Amino acid sequence: MEVIVKDCKSHPSCPHGPCLMFERHTSNGVKSGKRFYACSACRDRSDCNFFHWADDFSENKLKQWEERIAASKPPFTHDEYVQRRTAFENLPQHKRKYCRTCSLLILKDSENHVKHEIIDDVSEEQIHQPTTLFQTLENKKSEAQYFFSHKTIEFVTSLLKKLNFTKVVLIGVPKIHEYLMSNKSAGLTSFLMDIDHRYMQFFGPEQFCHYNLFNNHFFGGKASTKKFKEFLTENNGEKVAILLDPPFGGLIDAICFTLQKLNRYWQKANDKSSESVPIMWFFPYFLEPRIMQNMPDLVMMDYKVKYLNHKKFGGQAGSVGSPVRIFTNISASSVVLPKDEGYREKDIEISEVHVDGSGVDSEGEKSSNALNVLNGQQKVDCSR
Ligand SMILES: C[S@@+](CC[C@H](N)C(=O)[O-])C[C@H]1O[C@@H](n2cnc3c(N)ncnc32)[C@H](O)[C@@H]1O
Ligand SMILES: [Zn+2]
Ligand SMILES: [Zn+2]
Repeated sequence: MEVIVKDCKSHPSCPHGPCLMFERHTSNGVKSGKRFYACSACRDRSDCNFFHWADDFSENKLKQWEERIAASKPPFTHDEYVQRRTAFENLPQHKRKYCRTCSLLILKDSENHVKHEIIDDVSEEQIHQPTTLFQTLENKKSEAQYFFSHKTIEFVTSLLKKLNFTKVVLIGVPKIHEYLMSNKSAGLTSFLMDIDHRYMQFFGPEQFCHYNLFNNHFFGGKASTKKFKEFLTENNGEKVAILLDPPFGGLIDAICFTLQKLNRYWQKANDKSSESVPIMWFFPYFLEPRIMQNMPDLVMMDYKVKYLNHKKFGGQAGSVGSPVRIFTNISASSVVLPKDEGYREKDIEISEVHVDGSGVDSEGEKSSNALNVLNGQQKVDCSR
């Protein structure tokens, strides 16, 4: 099966925006010519079962899906969520409750949350770090929410700062958004884009946009696209980077197609037709060949990205070590990998590192690199 990479705006929609078109391959890998539409975001049919043959999509089916889309919309608009949050912040802390079952800040005792999982005494800190309130969607194939370790957050944000970035678009990277929102001294302004609408009640339209990376769909329509484009605009010496950490199962070709579109938005907003928007894409090293096929300008950094709530990628003793790397087009003459995470003292350049773990070091010699200094390459399960 392959995704037919093209603009999908005219395709039928499911609750996750316009669907992608796929083509079936025969058992010997030959294109069958049989094309179908399916949900762009969910690999698991129990999350979204949109599947229709391309030549068999009737008006009747369209109507049925329109009803399902309407029924699956979040219960409030972004502006209403913001108003709810303001009202919630005005409550004394002992009255602040969050319902994990409904993913909702509770404003009145009269709201019905009987037998639901409630968090009492919600603090300011929790309001600014909603991931600590949410039920994490680790088991969901579509959203797979694994959060960076604090060391990884510090490494990435200090690198951006060192490279003089002032603004960062974070696609599927809520932890860095939370960190930057509560650490203004880090000197980076952030804009979170995520398919998880629960962030709408914690971050306003200037800070969060409900978004699907796989089809470049802005759930908030033109108003939300406008906010994003405004954020991309670099005024008075500002410098923007885009960071993304999508689920591994995400369709690489579709992601690359979206990144090319986002690049065009950035070029247009900043009148920079011959440059590319700086990108840091967090993805496993073993998917490097597929990324490079689509985006040959990216190189893979040596740094091993660590996660908090992932038993294999946390970097604890006995774990196999994270296979996640950073693919980037940011040219940094010399990136110092953090000693306290086990990297050797010498500055290591961002170098092209291949799937066998070899690379070219700062003296231009083929060498074992920080990957090998740590645990070496591992064969790992690609489901996250
Ligand atoms: C592996 S987690 C990354 C979390 C990140 N490491 C952090 O610490 O903030 C994947 C993130 O991408 C989001 N996501 C999943 N599918 C998406 C899609 N199609 N479009 C945008 N975001 C998506 C999830 O909700 C989640 O926040
Ligand atoms: Zn869907
Ligand atoms: Zn509830």
